[in-house]
Amino acid sequence: MSQRLVVIGSQWGDEGKGKITDFFACRADMVVRFQGGNNAGHSVMFNGKKYSLQSIPSGIFNPSTVNIMGNGMVVNPESVVVELQKLRDQGITDFQLFISDRAAMVMPWHADLDGAYEAQKGNKLIGTTKKGIGPAYCDKYSRSGLRMGDLLEPDYFAQRLHDAMVIKNRELEMLGLPSYDYQKVYKRFMDLAEILGPRITDTSYLINKYLREEDKKILFEGAQGMMLCIDHGTYPYVTSSTPSAASVPVGAGIAPQWINNVLGVAKAYCTRVGEGPFPTELFDEIANEIRERGHEYGTVTGRPRRIGWFDAVVARYTSQIAGISSWALMLFDVLSGLKTVKICTHYELDGKIVETPPSTISKLSRCKPVYIELPGWNEDISGIKSFDELPQNAKNYVRKIEEITGVPVGVLSVGPDRSQTILISPLLQEF
Ligand code: IMP
Repeated sequence: MSQRLVVIGSQWGDEGKGKITDFFACRADMVVRFQGGNNAGHSVMFNGKKYSLQSIPSGIFNPSTVNIMGNGMVVNPESVVVELQKLRDQGITDFQLFISDRAAMVMPWHADLDGAYEAQKGNKLIGTTKKGIGPAYCDKYSRSGLRMGDLLEPDYFAQRLHDAMVIKNRELEMLGLPSYDYQKVYKRFMDLAEILGPRITDTSYLINKYLREEDKKILFEGAQGMMLCIDHGTYPYVTSSTPSAASVPVGAGIAPQWINNVLGVAKAYCTRVGEGPFPTELFDEIANEIRERGHEYGTVTGRPRRIGWFDAVVARYTSQIAGISSWALMLFDVLSGLKTVKICTHYELDGKIVETPPSTISKLSRCKPVYIELPGWNEDISGIKSFDELPQNAKNYVRKIEEITGVPVGVLSVGPDRSQTILISPLLQEF
């Protein structure tokens, strides 16, 4: 029987998912993206070169790995073509990539509308990536969107495009934005169909075939993080999909019982970029120390990330909702040298102890963290190869997180390099 592993972010994104996904993608026969689109982004170091991926799965560097962009994604065909060209320019020419015929398509106006909706929000903007992800998902659920498979039937596509453009051009005009010329869009998308057509197929069929094969390893690659989940995150400061293992069956087209091994990626502390409540946020010298040691600056904007202690309220919540069976605890080495380390076990909200994050950001902003404090460790742990070699206080910190969250730590990351990864869980060692 196949082995499956789901990797998801469990905080507010930027947890170090890229490193862990690449680590397991090298061993996988198939890598499947199941939600989100080109709002995700991570850099991969490979043979001394740096590559960046947005919507293409992380197994693309291995010629024998089948990469799938699943039906739960929103796919921008224009940006897939650009991404593929960039990879080819960097010498990545031998790869296998398939795109679901049922995946929603991101059209050129979706990015315009994303920008316009944000502009209307004034200082209450979400801070989206402006890739049109929200508007594309809106069209999918309002049943007016186009899908990748439509590109394979020119007459059908022409009609669907026409119907969609009548509505969208009206909306663009109302917002004072330029409308699109039907013939030009049709022609461009037929060109894209010629390039991507051979890759568009029933990917659910391909995944199900692999699931039933002996010894196949299938990695399901999540994007964003659970606190950005449209249902369970800090709404409205969220993305428009569900970055949870619960998304895999729907977004890949498989049965739920195949999902049994879910790795939740979490930093050993917490960070958040941009707006939105962050109960364990630190404003003191410790925040600066962690920020400098962890290079906690946004990769695109260079903005300093907000820093906080490990939030076990968030961890318990996301592990339960997303079905996390083990943690990948990232940037653990960054905590070395602190006199004491804290873990938030509960919040206090209006004089009462709460166990889970409240649903509104107004209440979450009033939550005060309740901490336990543990002795820190001074040793540099970045060269350590096994859990047993860790200083006792570092071990105690890991064990405390396991105890409070009820989920074992399966992977410890003690540095950016692949070799600085300690695999603890036997299930993960086998993958
Ligand atoms: P959208 O997904 O572009 O609609 O953006 C909605 C929110 O999700 C914004 O706060 C983005 O910064 C955040 N976001 C989207 N994708 C990612 C990601 O891959 N990592 C971290 N944050 C993300």
